[in-house]
Amino acid sequence: MTQKPDNPAQNAQARAKIESMKRQFEQRRAISSALSSVKNKIGVYSGKGGVGKTTVSVNLAVTLAESGKSVGILDVDIDCPNVVRAMKIFEPPEMAEDKRLVPPSRFGVSVMSMGFFQQKEDEAIIWRGPMVHNAINQLLQSTVWGELDFLIVDLPPGTSDGPLTVMQTLDLDGFVIVTAPQELAMIDAKRSINMIKTLKVDVLGVVENFSGEIFGTGAGQDICNELELPFLGKLGLSPDYRDESKPTVLTSDTVRDEYRLVTSQLELELTKKQTA
Ligand SMILES: Nc1ncnc2c1ncn2[C@@H]1O[C@H](COP(=O)(O)OP(=O)(O)O)[C@@H](O)[C@H]1O
Ligand SMILES: [Mg+2]
Repeated sequence: MTQKPDNPAQNAQARAKIESMKRQFEQRRAISSALSSVKNKIGVYSGKGGVGKTTVSVNLAVTLAESGKSVGILDVDIDCPNVVRAMKIFEPPEMAEDKRLVPPSRFGVSVMSMGFFQQKEDEAIIWRGPMVHNAINQLLQSTVWGELDFLIVDLPPGTSDGPLTVMQTLDLDGFVIVTAPQELAMIDAKRSINMIKTLKVDVLGVVENFSGEIFGTGAGQDICNELELPFLGKLGLSPDYRDESKPTVLTSDTVRDEYRLVTSQLELELTKKQTA
């Protein structure tokens, strides 16, 4: 039997494919080793921007830290990385000798954000899918979190490619969904929950933000009834958020109490999940 002559083009293609698989494998290994000492990775997510995702991420993180947990926040909302501002962080991460990044800490929480790498705060970041994927990969591989009980991840809103890429890159343990109290917001929230379900990641629960007389109340609980999800609590629309000197749980007793309820519900859901 005569052997077919080698096809150089095909060989090169096969070699390139193997190289790319190797790189992906190494990236994934580097990410899981960088996050290996993080017990719970929780994404905070909403169907729309402006419903309080960053506010919830920051105040959840600070509340958990106040109760003695070790906590980090990772801000991968590419278009609006606002965590740096909300946490009042002015110094960028330090670079260790091995070129890895040590996140700065504020209010007891370690913070890493895409915002650290933005030139000016008001500069819009417009990134395409593969760039987003690479940047997040890089950030995940390079950050030295150390031992953490919780890593809270502020995700990009919506159901387009952006958030999907981010969610696929991160190996999250569960999501907290933020919704506004109105019916329209409910439609967005349901759409986003459906997207998460296709990723096979648990929804730990829903919080209703801006709850109260002005925007009404109830959408959060309604979604949970309809989709059989845990309701984590209501966060009232409040003027207390106007003081931006600190995360609001540190300046308002009412807001702190609301967040304590939400975090205890969240911890309950995590325990249930771990013992299931
Ligand atoms: N419960 C609340 N009451 C009053 N203002 C709030 C509340 N939650 C959030 N905000 C304000 O609403 C704005 C948008 O919130 P933000 O967390 O940035 O939303 P997102 O991250 O979803 O875009 C911010 O100015 C924030 O201070
Ligand atoms: Mg935000």
